Amino acid sequence: MGYMNIMRVLGIETSCDETAAAIVDDGRSILSNVVLSQLDDHQPFGGVVPEIAARAHLENLDAIVAHARDEAGIALKDLDGIAVTGGPGLIGGVIVGVMTAKAIAAASGVPFVAVNHLEAHALTARLTDNVAFPYLLLLISGGHCQLLIVEGIGCYVLLGTTMDDAIGEAFDKTAKLLGLGFPGGPAVEAAARDGDPSRFRLPRPLMGRPRCDFSFSGLKTAVSQAAINLGHDTTGQDAADLAAGFQAAVAEVVADRCQHAFEAFAERHPDTKPVLVAAGGVAANQALRATLTDTSARHDVSMVVPPPALCTDNAAMVAWAGLERLRIGKTDGLDFRPRPRWPLAEPTAA
Ligand code: KG4
Ligand code: ZN
Repeated sequence: MGYMNIMRVLGIETSCDETAAAIVDDGRSILSNVVLSQLDDHQPFGGVVPEIAARAHLENLDAIVAHARDEAGIALKDLDGIAVTGGPGLIGGVIVGVMTAKAIAAASGVPFVAVNHLEAHALTARLTDNVAFPYLLLLISGGHCQLLIVEGIGCYVLLGTTMDDAIGEAFDKTAKLLGLGFPGGPAVEAAARDGDPSRFRLPRPLMGRPRCDFSFSGLKTAVSQAAINLGHDTTGQDAADLAAGFQAAVAEVVADRCQHAFEAFAERHPDTKPVLVAAGGVAANQALRATLTDTSARHDVSMVVPPPALCTDNAAMVAWAGLERLRIGKTDGLDFRPRPRWPLAEPTAA
């Protein structure tokens, strides 16, 4: 397709607690990227309340889509595709997004594409950095913690996943425990800046073990036990030191798991110079990024991390994944059913 014939795709994201719409083109330009966070709606409950999320998506999505359309200066009928997160996620929100996208597609006659939210995170590095297949993906978000080889659109090899909590969940629970508020990731990171990571001896679950799986529940329990052992409320320096200790432990185990992934990648793709892409909300964590950058450099692996705004949930990544699918003719029918669970890949025996 020549430059005279630019493809533009609208993306819609409603699978968790951001209502988002964006338009991207096949020149890798983000023409608009509107994200409405529902943080204030959920803050009093210390976590995302699915029912509140679904209602907020329903109330706001039409205006967010109109905003994205106006900002890009493109009429809906002039789009080449309408992409929407079809799962996995909180099903009420996903239904709102899918319903809206189908309505726009039906009214404008534009092709409809249902996108896997994890695939949208996975392909973001191709939008931001034009990364070629195959590459290694560390997907670290509120709901997921996985290492995969991305070999093509729809072609994923799962190297490892979490045996208990997702990594973002571990950050969120730790923050709650330390009274740092919600969402936990940014709060733990901020508190850790003033903390001494070596004051508390915390475990490094699965460190040094073969394969690429993760586990965080033991670490979470250790933080909780350390807080109890203090014998008083965890605030100020205590909270900062525990946050720093937790974050350092997480960074170390993630780096260890990535080293195993480098080996698995080299075995499967001996002739490809490895690239490690970090994606998902937790990839916004600067301390973790620094550790991973260091580990990658020592193993001669290039590292790509999209900017924080494209690591956390957004619709530009959905639009881009939709565009990639559209380019190879993978569209969906208007009978697509929202999927609360939708794994990218089944575990391999490797
Ligand atoms: O990808 P995401 O926006 O939503 C999904 O889960 O799909 O990820 C949200 C998660 C939350 O658990 C949040 O606490 C975590 O990402 N997070 C962070 C940081 N920013 C967001 N975790 C650690 N450090 C951060 N700076
Ligand atoms: Zn996400």
